[in-house]
Amino acid sequence: MAVSPTRIDALPGKVGEEVLLQGWLYNRRSSGKLEFLQLRDGTGLVQCVASKADLPEAVFARCAASSQESAIRVRGVVREDRRAPSGVEITLLDLEVVSESRDYPITPKEHGTPFLLDHRHLWIRSQRQHAILRIRHTLVDACRNFLNQDGFILADAPIFTPNACEGTTTLFETEYFDEKAYLTQSGQLYNEATAMAFGRSYCFGPTFRAEKSKTRRHLIEFWMIEPEVAYAALDDVMILIERFVEAIVSRVLADRREDLKILGRDPSPLERVKAPFPRISYDEAARILTARGLPFQWGTDFGGTDETALTEGFDRPFFVHRFPAAVKAFYMKRDPADDRLSLSCDLLAPEGYGEIVGGGQREDDLETLVGRIREHQLPMEAFEWYLDLRRYGSVPHSGFGMGIERALTWITGIEHVRETIPFPRLLNRLRP
Ligand code: 4AD
Ligand code: MG
Repeated sequence: MAVSPTRIDALPGKVGEEVLLQGWLYNRRSSGKLEFLQLRDGTGLVQCVASKADLPEAVFARCAASSQESAIRVRGVVREDRRAPSGVEITLLDLEVVSESRDYPITPKEHGTPFLLDHRHLWIRSQRQHAILRIRHTLVDACRNFLNQDGFILADAPIFTPNACEGTTTLFETEYFDEKAYLTQSGQLYNEATAMAFGRSYCFGPTFRAEKSKTRRHLIEFWMIEPEVAYAALDDVMILIERFVEAIVSRVLADRREDLKILGRDPSPLERVKAPFPRISYDEAARILTARGLPFQWGTDFGGTDETALTEGFDRPFFVHRFPAAVKAFYMKRDPADDRLSLSCDLLAPEGYGEIVGGGQREDDLETLVGRIREHQLPMEAFEWYLDLRRYGSVPHSGFGMGIERALTWITGIEHVRETIPFPRLLNRLRP
């Protein structure tokens, strides 16, 4: 097999040429005289047709014996085929088995999700998982591109931290030599420092929440992109969020139509994702829920059912702003118009998905912030460096965090967040 290898996504430009493909056998059908081999190589799927009449006996026999997920090299000629999703098909000339795969556990029959999650290291080879993770790749790239072009400096935050950001109940504790340390829940506090250094900065990394939640929205480890802006108020950050979300969704629509189709995702709700997004206050949201007959108490945070119910009235993402300060983190600035409220906002995705972004304006006054740290019973000494940001040139500033997996669950239109990350960490799952 002397020709240099070609990738499946490059085949449409090579009609009539002889090519060498290397990948894995996705599936095989046979009609006795013909073997139809579905080859995958990570860039796509292509059908290779082996004809008994045209091939040396040994080659045809290798094709007819090849098993699911065996590593194979195929030499063949590219033919145009309008019925094929890729527009091409391969007339097979030769097949080499690089490594055989015996009794591949994930067969074309239906498997339960626990079984598939146990085999996640193999499940990611399947077409649907592949489509989700390719969209993830594009989504992450779109997020970075947007911020990079908008003047933000990437300044990543540490993962080992000596203190909580989002409250102490969901911290993972670990050892840091002779000290206690925690896995970060959010890079925000460090972002506030980098925003005071660069004006606009963001971090993007894994974050950890020891949440005992077993819902379709919760991961224990998830990736968050968090921009922070100096000299910005709540309204400024809502404008940034809607521009950001519009841009990343339109990028996925532009580049990943095929993958959305594989997932059966109707693109029309995504096509409606155009700024400005509707804005409702927490007060209004609470009235909507009560009017719907839900047992909602003013002053509490929304549960999953509340969020889903709220999304029913909107055809695009929408903001809920000014949550009660009591349900939000210590760093939220209070609303000067009503001290019970915070200058916070969540962005809720439509179609029942709920919160994908959390953000708001930060408390920038030293004395007030010291008071909040006391009220929340947080250890003052751990926050001394953070208080320095209010001692040395404090300005109004705001930011937000978007969980990549939450956003991706909505964009792909899938049921559960666990399929949006290569190796999910869930309440009862640390493996593989
Ligand atoms: O609303 P959260 O907790 O906000 C923060 O952490 C802020 N410090 C962010 C900031 O202002 N820089 O989390 C932000 C987002 C949520 O809107 C959601 O998308 C995601 O992070 N998220 C989760 N995603 C998956 N599983 C979980 N357990 C999540 N918890 C939060
Ligand atoms: Mg939140």
